[in-house]
Amino acid sequence: MEKVRVNAGRGYDCIIGSGILKNIGEYTAAVKKPCKAFVVSDDTVYPLYGAQVEASLKAAGFETVHYVFKAGENSKNISTLSDILEAMAEAHITRSDLAIALGGGVCGDTAGLAAALYLRGIDFVQIPTTFLAGVDSSVGGKTAVNLNAGKNLMGAFYQPILCICDCKTFDTLPKEVFADGVAESLKYGAIFDEKLFETVASGDFDSENVVKRCIELKADVVEKDERDLGLRQLLNFGHTVGHAIEKLSEFKITHGHAVAIGMVIASYEKPGIRKRIIEGNIKCGLPVSCEFSAHELANAALSDKKRSGDYINLVVPEKLGKCVLKKINVSELENYIEKGLHI
Ligand code: NAD
Ligand code: GLY
Repeated sequence: MEKVRVNAGRGYDCIIGSGILKNIGEYTAAVKKPCKAFVVSDDTVYPLYGAQVEASLKAAGFETVHYVFKAGENSKNISTLSDILEAMAEAHITRSDLAIALGGGVCGDTAGLAAALYLRGIDFVQIPTTFLAGVDSSVGGKTAVNLNAGKNLMGAFYQPILCICDCKTFDTLPKEVFADGVAESLKYGAIFDEKLFETVASGDFDSENVVKRCIELKADVVEKDERDLGLRQLLNFGHTVGHAIEKLSEFKITHGHAVAIGMVIASYEKPGIRKRIIEGNIKCGLPVSCEFSAHELANAALSDKKRSGDYINLVVPEKLGKCVLKKINVSELENYIEKGLHI
């Protein structure tokens, strides 16, 4: 079992291990007095792990209530958020109680936002069950739901009080869902750590080690720029076009797959790096291109929240393991994507 400390919010530990779901109650009781725990999960994850998590919490003295929503990105919206908030009220959750997100990034983002809003904020714990949530979304306090206009347009920065990642839960992930997390891990490697990139791109790696390394990198960034004003924007490598792809595909192309394509497009000015990203994607079962035109992608991307006036911040690689922000005029975006689309 490994621990990474994140010094954001009130500060919290990310506990990473294998087969540690049965100890959830004990880990949670170490940071929160036994209370009512409102467990939010989706209808794929809850039947797999809900009973074990609730039993462990009860054994540690917590009372549990659960709310289960339909799995998938299409549930990451105001309607699910509102249903969770109403269910919290019906369960008489108070300010001293706890919300727990048990699931992938959709669950963590949505339940995290509900925790931020309910009674102006109650404590919450992240239990990521996808590789993507383990390496990225469960840490750092970005919570959000999507609006019709785009991804994550309604959200809050709200840190959990604890994150517990049991990598054994990845055993039940469909191959493509695991690959979504591989894309985000390649992203962390491409931005900050060439060795991590090479390890993941080889397709032969230990997921616990990769989760730990990604979380160490992310913790460092979040500690320096929790509110996404500068450094943290680097974590959006591949995301400007990635979010556009997700939206245009009506979420049939999942987040990690879309980011994988976005990284290929965003690295077009560096052919050597782009070649290694393409090879890594292919080795790991990730796509390298999509069917949308540069015009469609640019339009969709421009409703993205990262636009600031007439400019948009793109993340581009300088070398493998180092990315930088590049500010371009919105009028240049289509041309930029056009060049990046051609492999
Ligand atoms: P997801 O939560 O939809 O999970 C993918 C699928 O896997 C779902 O059908 C889910 O039910 C299923 N699943 C989850 N755990 C499982 C398990 N252990 N076994 C079997 N099936 C399981 O998607 P995701 O890829 O985890 O997350 C994507 C979301 O995360 C996107 O909305 C993205 O925007 C968001 N995200 C947020 C951040 C952040 O910093 N907050 C970072 C990256 C991505
Ligand atoms: N996943 C991007 C961020 O947390 O900033």
